[in-house]
Amino acid sequence: MEQITEYLCRYKNYNFAIGTTTAEYIDSLQSFEIRDSDIILVTYPKSGTIWTQQIIISICELSGGLHEYPNNLEQMPWLEYREGREDYSLRPSPRLFASHLTPALIPPGLKDKKAKIIYVMRNPKDNIASYYHFSRVWVDLETPKSFEHFLEDYLKGNVGASSWFDHIREWHSKREQYNILFLTYEDMILDLKAAVTKICIFLGKNLSEAAIDQVVEKSTFKTMKKDSKANYKFLPQERVKGDFMRKGQIGDWKNIFTAAQSERVDRLLQERLGDLSLKFIWE
Ligand code: PPS
Repeated sequence: MEQITEYLCRYKNYNFAIGTTTAEYIDSLQSFEIRDSDIILVTYPKSGTIWTQQIIISICELSGGLHEYPNNLEQMPWLEYREGREDYSLRPSPRLFASHLTPALIPPGLKDKKAKIIYVMRNPKDNIASYYHFSRVWVDLETPKSFEHFLEDYLKGNVGASSWFDHIREWHSKREQYNILFLTYEDMILDLKAAVTKICIFLGKNLSEAAIDQVVEKSTFKTMKKDSKANYKFLPQERVKGDFMRKGQIGDWKNIFTAAQSERVDRLLQERLGDLSLKFIWE
């Protein structure tokens, strides 16, 4: 891995927080054996990962047969981080994983189209605002000197997980190769029940109306914030000096962006991803 800043290292064009993984481990994912029953949640950081994690886990729990782990991180660990992880080949099925990786680094075994991937995207301005606030409380990340500095780094891809634009483009353009469901954070906010129902159908889980309502209730911001398995307060306080469950809204970016910064993101979005005709909800 090439160290690029005090906090980041780069491997195969992708930035990791220093100390979270190794080149050998990332390479080993190329031969990671995927099972047809695996479910992988893929996101760019701060796009709704732990939220969707809670939804998927709740659906699998209610449909039965899920081995229980003490919290959502252990129930659905990130594929790419080494720390304290066991040999996943010994885990009972169905295995659940989260990942911020790009198609180039994710296990190629996912391409046989049986294992399921759920990809969640968030509008980039709220994503930036959330990532900025998180960078101020997560000790593995550099504390930004200012929002302007963070924005600059983010737009250049000089943050953990590299460029948001590349992440979206790569997953979008390779989607035909995978068994993948695309969701947006904003659709989940606007109609959580519809999103939960979509995920159930995609996962082939036939839940009753009452069970779907239960998943929705377990996954609201209010409930999750109090749920000690889901709110990430189980992480040591010296690693995170704030909340994973911060605001959970659409449009919080307006509290931090200037008009010029917002227009800059609009322009870049058009330049970098305009051809994909993606629709974003900003408020
Ligand atoms: S991470 O570190 O990449 O796993 O972070 P991630 O989970 O992707 O993103 C964190 C943001 O998701 C919000 N969140 C929610 N929003 C709405 N409803 C629910 N239930 C929910 N759970 C988490 C969380 O508050 C972070 O967004 P911000 O804007 O910072 O509040």
